[in-house]
Amino acid sequence: MSDKFKKTILCIGAGYVGGPTMAMIAHKCPQYKVNVVDINPERIDQWNSDNLPIYEPGLYEVVVSARNKNLFFSTDVEKGIKESDIIFVSVNTPTKTFGVGAGMAADLQYWEKTARQIRKYSESPKIIVEKSTLPVKTAQAMERILTSKGQEVHFEVLSNPEFLAEGTAIEDLEHPDRVLVGSNETPEGLKAREELVDIYSEWVPREKIVTSNIWSSELSKLVANAFLAQRISSVNAISRLCEKTDADISEVAYAIGMDSRIGSKFLNASVGFGGSCFQKDILNLVYLCRSYGLNEVADYWESVVKINDYQKESFVMNMLTAMFNTLAEKRICLFGFAFKANTGDTRETPALYISKKLLEENARLVISDPKALPNAKKDLDGINGEITYQEDPYEAAAGSHAVAIITEWDVYKTLDYEKIFNSMKKPAFIFDGRNIVDHEKLFNIGFNVYAIGKPALTHF
Ligand code: NAD
Ligand code: UGA
Repeated sequence: MSDKFKKTILCIGAGYVGGPTMAMIAHKCPQYKVNVVDINPERIDQWNSDNLPIYEPGLYEVVVSARNKNLFFSTDVEKGIKESDIIFVSVNTPTKTFGVGAGMAADLQYWEKTARQIRKYSESPKIIVEKSTLPVKTAQAMERILTSKGQEVHFEVLSNPEFLAEGTAIEDLEHPDRVLVGSNETPEGLKAREELVDIYSEWVPREKIVTSNIWSSELSKLVANAFLAQRISSVNAISRLCEKTDADISEVAYAIGMDSRIGSKFLNASVGFGGSCFQKDILNLVYLCRSYGLNEVADYWESVVKINDYQKESFVMNMLTAMFNTLAEKRICLFGFAFKANTGDTRETPALYISKKLLEENARLVISDPKALPNAKKDLDGINGEITYQEDPYEAAAGSHAVAIITEWDVYKTLDYEKIFNSMKKPAFIFDGRNIVDHEKLFNIGFNVYAIGKPALTHF
């Protein structure tokens, strides 16, 4: 611990969660020194530059306010561990791609490596905070690894899952709905819990800081994501029924959302949910249920992912059917590649599935996005077919047979669609995978308009 500061915090993993979360803690708590380490030197260089590794509104200002004062980014994991009193583990926990549980279980190799490093380099007692999303009971495994050398050093493991959403990370961190801290219910566990609560209390109202036993905390994170994703799959499932019955999903969602027991948020029908967490966390939950022999419970949650896959497939099938069952040689423009607006992140984006399917139909793809083109290029690298990347949406749409809106970026809501229509091949099609444009207006301009869960507006 360095003298100038009350305590030294370390975060292992400088990704979408570790970077913004630690920047916010450092910004709000100048009395704590916050070190952030990562094994990826390129990422650390970017955190130390003006060109941060992730796009997140408001992030730059928060980072700059604390960087090199009480916020430091480095690759020196050993030094970071030795210096720290509290260690947040915020490494990636993707879906396993090999061996037992492939395609379902969480891949805990990065998490386990950090546990072993902490054990190896620690010379003083520490609080270890699980920030990554992990299967319930992981804290037990963490404790077993940390104490397996019969060390003198005491480690107290806490669970403090992160609920921020990308694109609104800074707002979510600054004004969270709640902060959850789970601990062992022993005197040491409760003391460690209070230390973490003290940090958040610097800016989060005390009544929003929820404490629980450690297993409830671990499980609550998976369940929160499963419930959120379930809402989207529920509304998306009904959107398909709307398309068959001339009902309008926006009207249905509005009507049901006004019931305060249901609530109006997270009912936007879409081309399907993406992002690095919903699918992986539900699959993780499904795998856990199966491993406890709860097959019916597992099937129930797995259906949320199946509906999501079906929604993405249906979007492409609708395009193919509407465009006379052939897309070969047709120029098709995607508006948006990120998995949601206000981020450059493309992990599990529906755009990737859609791009691959369109390329299989021999369509010529033009991809446009305000922030995600570098990631889109990496994702589509090596995939057969003609792909052009064009940030300017007017240039991207010119000469196209169809425009498909994949990401709900604000910029796509206010484009001059008359100009776009005039530059396109006829008949011109628009497929609104986010229901964000004025369909009636576009139809009157001359487009054939296909939205999610709404009657198609066509000139045929
Ligand atoms: P990420 O891939 O962006 O970041 C993880 C970082 O950890 C990477 O930079 C990687 O290099 C680093 N890392 C891996 N092993 C390491 C090691 N041994 N030592 C040092 N660094 C190491 O992932 P993310 O999106 O930040 O997610 C991290 C965790 O937070 C996941 O468990 C995820 O489920 C959870 N989560 C993510 C979000 C989100 O919006 N992305 C929100 C809530 C929770
Ligand atoms: C989600 C949760 O919202 C966070 O609380 C959680 O911390 C995070 O996962 C995580 O654990 O990683 P995120 O994936 O960043 O956050 O973004 P969301 O806003 O939840 O959007 C997820 C996907 O659902 C996006 O593709 C989005 O476009 C889609 N979505 C969202 C819809 O299709 N309809 C909606 O009504 C809302």
